Amino acid sequence: LARVRVRQHVNPLSQIYQTPIVPPDWNQVYAEPQQPLHLDIGCGWGRFLLEMAQLEPAWNFLGLEIREPLVHQALEIKSQAGLTNLYYLFCNANNSLKPLLDTLPPGVLQRVTIQFPDPWFKKRHQKRRVVQPDLVQNLAIYLAQQGQVFIQSDIKEVAQEIYNRFEENPAFQRVQTEHQWMPENPLPIATERELHVLNQQLPVYRTLFVRV
Ligand SMILES: C[S@@+](CC[C@H](N)C(=O)[O-])C[C@H]1O[C@@H](n2cnc3c(N)ncnc32)[C@H](O)[C@@H]1O
Repeated sequence: LARVRVRQHVNPLSQIYQTPIVPPDWNQVYAEPQQPLHLDIGCGWGRFLLEMAQLEPAWNFLGLEIREPLVHQALEIKSQAGLTNLYYLFCNANNSLKPLLDTLPPGVLQRVTIQFPDPWFKKRHQKRRVVQPDLVQNLAIYLAQQGQVFIQSDIKEVAQEIYNRFEENPAFQRVQTEHQWMPENPLPIATERELHVLNQQLPVYRTLFVRV
């Protein structure tokens, strides 16, 4: 499939993204809705999840993405691949996470990834960043005990801000590593942005938190 053309960024605070999603019927979405769920926030084109879902059939995978055409294309590719443990939803994670997680079977949310979120460098744009205190708190509420949150960014300042937001929430404990940032990605698949950054030999700032 040729890639649909989409804008590079959309503003999650704009009026059109303020309506929270109506959660789907999870029994229609997954063949085995009780399987552990891996949630990828800001999944972009969804290729990371497509490969993860093939590698780990005993898990379900859910991608949230605010650029709608990407979601349509990702769903089409998923259908062609015949995967019944993968789904993508068009929504704004900042207002849709709670209604979505609230309707899932209790305890299924066991892994969350937030990978290369849009940096929104300008000070006045920083409220557009996806990892806001409310998002961290909703993950604290719905993530299973010992559930993991893996974060990575090529922008140190962005990684540090997310790191601080999880570190200040008592529900999360950072997995200690020798240095502040994890040298390797613990997951078997690299995201598209990650491959792009690594190809340019640029550093990636990674951290892993556990729900305690
Ligand atoms: C830089 S891309 C990274 C995509 C992918 N995770 C990767 O590593 O290749 C960040 C993605 O997050 C999406 N995004 C940003 N804010 C969002 C929000 N509030 N809710 C859902 N998705 C969002 C963007 O549209 C974009 O596709």
